[in-house]
Amino acid sequence: MKILVIGSGGREHAIIHKLLESDRISKIYCAPGNGGIAAEAECVPIGATDIPALVSFAKDNNIDFTVVGMDDPLVMGVVDAFEAEGLRIFGPRKNAAIIEGSKAFSKELMKKYGIPTARYEIFEDYEKAAAYVKTLTPPIVLKADGLALGKGVLICKTYGEAEDGLREIMVDKKFGASGNKVVIEEFLTGPEVSVLSFCDGKTVVPMVSAQDHKRAYDNDEGLNTGGMGTFSPSRVYDEKTAREAMEKIFIPTVDALNKEGRTFKGIIYFGLMLTKDGPKVIEYNCRFGDPETQVILPRLKSDLLGIFEACVDGNLDKTDIKWDNGGACCVVMASGGYPVSYGKGYEISGIEEAEKDSDVKVYHAGTALRNGKYVTNGGRVIGVTAVGKNLDEAIKTAYKAVDKIDFKDKHFRHDIGIKNYD
Ligand code: AMP
Ligand code: GLY
Repeated sequence: MKILVIGSGGREHAIIHKLLESDRISKIYCAPGNGGIAAEAECVPIGATDIPALVSFAKDNNIDFTVVGMDDPLVMGVVDAFEAEGLRIFGPRKNAAIIEGSKAFSKELMKKYGIPTARYEIFEDYEKAAAYVKTLTPPIVLKADGLALGKGVLICKTYGEAEDGLREIMVDKKFGASGNKVVIEEFLTGPEVSVLSFCDGKTVVPMVSAQDHKRAYDNDEGLNTGGMGTFSPSRVYDEKTAREAMEKIFIPTVDALNKEGRTFKGIIYFGLMLTKDGPKVIEYNCRFGDPETQVILPRLKSDLLGIFEACVDGNLDKTDIKWDNGGACCVVMASGGYPVSYGKGYEISGIEEAEKDSDVKVYHAGTALRNGKYVTNGGRVIGVTAVGKNLDEAIKTAYKAVDKIDFKDKHFRHDIGIKNYD
């Protein structure tokens, strides 16, 4: 089979690397891909949101199956466009991808169907929102309704911060049309866990749990980033919590979407907070997480292509999905200055050396090939990932591999996997 993967980050690299284990695949293309992905798939220079060009490419090259990694094309309707041409594609249609595309939609859905989440109000008018904020006790959580590159959530410690935040989102339109509506919600506390799940429109199968580290520096200091590292499994997501999340959140979400005529096929990513009152939904995403995927897929022991096909065909209940019961850790090596400003084009050394350990895989996020050598080409450059017989082993192996890799201004966190929740 010929496969097309849409996206260009470490997540897509991890998807491609796993898919290549399937002996039914003869060739994988990636649009647009990156320097490291080019070693495992043929990269084609088509932007991930150029839907007409993606459809034409799939038709012209007889692609049998397409996998969408990124959120934007899903929210824009790439699945609908492929299906309209009779092309097979893995991911939710536009009317279901809205669970990520509109936070206001998701909150209304959860309220209507009694799915546990933070209490909230939705506003379209700045004055009304600013007046409401004054009735709350900080911290106050503000969320721009639409996609905002993961930056549309503000946790405001004072009324002043909240008013400034509201103005930036609603008046200055810092996130463009994503800020036409704003969700103002209750501040929740507790450990956060990411539970990604496969879904075929009827059945939902959770994957092994993961946690990420969003802040730029050790001890959760510095700015929020796209993610500086992840580990799997979570140390706090036990079987009892998993059962509760399945009963109160996962199954009700899939049922709710069906009742609304928005059948979901693809990956539902449940961002959960484990509060004193049980797990609550912080966010839904309509695709694999990045860098969660880099620690989840290496633990999958079943054929990923088969699972994707079962989701599209509605056979997930008959599909066997097995996981390794060890652990995995991904340390993101970024360019110094990320997430604000950083240089590009610096040569990266030591990747081959690091990958000599068969438990290690380096997933490329922002790299390019120059004269046959990898150079940095983004804020998050690579995700150095290791598996182990348990999480602690995986963490040790990942950091040993990180030590072998070098590039100018490299920056990484030293505490991935060692979150303390006492
Ligand atoms: P999101 O972009 O939705 O993942 O939100 C970014 C981060 O903001 C989350 O990972 C949480 O750490 C935090 N957050 C979002 N909503 C809340 C909330 N209601 N209470 C506390 N923290 C929150
Ligand atoms: N790592 C968070 C996300 O993919 O949304």
